[in-house]
Amino acid sequence: MEELFEAYNRIILEHLKHPRNMGEMESPDGVGEAQNPACGDTMRLFIKVETDRIIDAKFLTFGCGAAIASSSVTTEMIKGRTIEEALMISDAVIAEAMGGLPPTKVHCSVLAERAIQAAVSDYRRKKEKKENSQDDR
Ligand code: FES
Repeated sequence: MEELFEAYNRIILEHLKHPRNMGEMESPDGVGEAQNPACGDTMRLFIKVETDRIIDAKFLTFGCGAAIASSSVTTEMIKGRTIEEALMISDAVIAEAMGGLPPTKVHCSVLAERAIQAAVSDYRRKKEKKENSQDDR
């Protein structure tokens, strides 16, 4: 455990000790979940969207320290971005924002990338459903 902490850089440790935007969100516009089948770590991402811009993001992650730090960094990265901009955020971009990940932890940022995609898909699905129900009136 101590060895792993030594492998984490200052940015990761800071997000691990003080995760940003952790917790559940009330009535989110989109919720996405991603799980890594190899380790079982799971991330749930909640987004609030206004005119296709993410105005708030929260997360619940059950997993390793790097997964929690990735989640925290990701919520900070997507806030204020448009849906299209958020979709451009890859695992590599997240890992870079974290100052890099130890080789055995590189897959942890993939979890965050997938959670963004899942939350956006959910948002789009709900939006379409809402628009269709308004058309039916
Ligand atoms: Fe699997 Fe971190 S060890 S997501």
